[in-house]
This record gives sequence, C-alpha cells and structure tokens, in this order.
Amino acid sequence: MTTAIDALAGALSAAKQEIAKVIIGQDKVIDSALIAIFTNHHALIEGVPGVAKTLLVRTLAHVLGCDFGRIQFTPDLMPADIIGTHVFNIQKQSFALVKGPIFTTFLLADEINRAPAKTQSALLQSMQERAVTIDRYTHPLPDNFTVFATQNPIEQQGTYPLPEAQVDRFMLKIPMGHPDREEEMQLAQRMLGDQAPEAVLKSGAVRAVLTPDTLMALRRQLAAIRIKDELVAYLVDIVRQTRRHQGVLVGAGPRATQALLLSSRAAAALAGRDFVTPDDIKGLAVPVLGHRIILRPEYEIEGLAIEEVIAQILQEVTVPR
Ligand SMILES: Nc1ncnc2c1ncn2[C@@H]1O[C@H](COP(=O)(O)OP(=O)(O)O)[C@@H](O)[C@H]1O
Ligand SMILES: [Mg+2]
Repeated sequence: MTTAIDALAGALSAAKQEIAKVIIGQDKVIDSALIAIFTNHHALIEGVPGVAKTLLVRTLAHVLGCDFGRIQFTPDLMPADIIGTHVFNIQKQSFALVKGPIFTTFLLADEINRAPAKTQSALLQSMQERAVTIDRYTHPLPDNFTVFATQNPIEQQGTYPLPEAQVDRFMLKIPMGHPDREEEMQLAQRMLGDQAPEAVLKSGAVRAVLTPDTLMALRRQLAAIRIKDELVAYLVDIVRQTRRHQGVLVGAGPRATQALLLSSRAAAALAGRDFVTPDDIKGLAVPVLGHRIILRPEYEIEGLAIEEVIAQILQEVTVPR
C-alpha cells in the first residue's frame, strides 16, 4: 500500500471517528456522504423527519473544517434569497452585490423539495457551474463548493419534486432510515445525560480533522486507486442494463457511469484499499442509480421499488472473475 493511500484512508477513518461522536450508527449513510465529499460532488439525503439529516450535515461541515451555510427551503423562498442580488448604493451611485447564503464552501440545502422549481433551479445551476450568475454578472464559487440537500420522501402536500433532468446533479441520493433498536436505546440514554448529540457538537469535543487545503490534496490521491479494465466494463454494463430493464422507462445516462467509477474508487479508499472490487460497485448502485432511473408507470403502480429493480439489474450483469 502506498503512502498516498495511507494518508487518504487515515483521514477518512479520522473523520468517521469524529462524526461518530455525534451521529449514532448510520454507517452506510456516513460512508456515502464521505464518498461524495472526497470526490468533490454533491449529495441528496432523503429520509423522514427526525433521523438526523440536518445534524449529520452540520457535523460533516464541522469535521471537514469548511465554511458552512444553511438554507431552509420554504414555499416562499425566491432565487434571490439564495444567490443574492445587486442593490443600488445611493452614496456611491452604483450597484453593489449583496451576496446570498450560497457564497460558502459547504452548503446545506435543507428540505429542498419544499421550494418552487425556479428556486431549486437557481441552486442546481450554481451546483453545476460552481458559479452564480446575477443580472448577467457571473461570480465564481470555491472549487470545492459542495451542496448537501435533504428532503422528506413522504411529504407530498406542498412539495415540488426535483426536476428529473436536474436531479442527477447530485452524484448520490442517500437513503437515511430510522436507527435500529440498539442505536435508539443509545440515543435515549444519551438524551438523559449530558451527551445529547447536539450538545456534543456544540461542546467543542468534535475535532475538525481536515482543512479545505488538505481535503483538496486528499481528493487528488483518489487518482492512485486502481480499477481493473474488467471492472470498468462491469460498471458500464450495469449502467447500460438500466436502459434495457423491462420495468424501466428511462435508464441512467453516461453521467451515472462517471459517478459509479469515481465513487467506487472512494469506496475502496474508505475500506483502506488501493484497488476497487466488484462489491464496491454493487454497494454504490442504489445511491448512484436510484435517482437516475424512471420506472414504467405500470410497474410503479404494482409497487415495484427502485431498489428491487437495481437488485435485478445487478443479477442480470455478470461479475468479472
Ligand atoms: N442516529 C442518530 N444519531 C444522533 N442523533 C439522532 C439520530 N437519529 C435522530 N437523532 C436525534 O434526532 C433529532 C432530529 O435531528 P434532525 O437533524 O433535526 O433531523 P432531520 O433533519 O432528519 O429532521 C436530533 O435531536 C438528533 O439528536
Ligand atoms: Mg432537518
């Protein structure tokens, strides 16, 4: 194992240790979140209220030592509330930019499906370009500008589902479920003492183990993770099979191939390896493909879940020996 990978694996496990001081369990969610961050991509966390989506993203920002901003999405949120606006300054007789909360490094877009499409698009466009355009002036965002959005899957009333054409700006859609019984017991006991998760985050006991510079340096190390040609072909076949599956109306596009390739390398680093395995790819199929596939209505009505379709697709594609 080379030194570069040691440093990467070390940083990832140090980050996980700090996050675990606040978040109980949720290992798969935390791994997926770190994969998005270390590949410099955006992620969408989906879960019912109260499973610690907001707390997780706050903790991540703290551990990564990044500038952090939070936007609570509401039905009356306007694009200017996110990106900012030009205001005329009477003294100077000129317009000045009043920057919106998007001008940060690590942004939490909380409950993104509660704001209307044009406000969502203002954010999604800036995510894509890592720049903000206001009145024909373009303002750059940091190279490592990262958005973690959250949404509640069951709330239909008064929500605006993300436009299918743009939801793939998120590399991963991370499902976040309820804690298991043992974890919930832990949570209850911690609430009784002075170790309530929020209190721990505020207490200063959680260390910032990275800085924006070290994060950027570590991201470059991912290039050292090896992936065999057969495995590249394997992940390409998985993505292409989504376009052939009988239950799928619209399969995943080439961006999914890029996302599966980059994220599987980060998954290997998380496991302390300098090479990708088929299980790395399989483990990422749902977070990478789940929000990029549209099922045929008749299959949806029958209650076929995306996860089941992806499991079938993984069955249909041969794992290279
Ligand atoms: N796995 C967990 N680890 C730590 N705290 C948790 C966990 N699950 C739920 N909580 C608690 O639930 C509360 C809700 O968290 P919050 O981040 O507001 O949830 P969400 O954004 O998903 O609605 C927090 O007080 C948090 O302490
Ligand atoms: Mg929340």
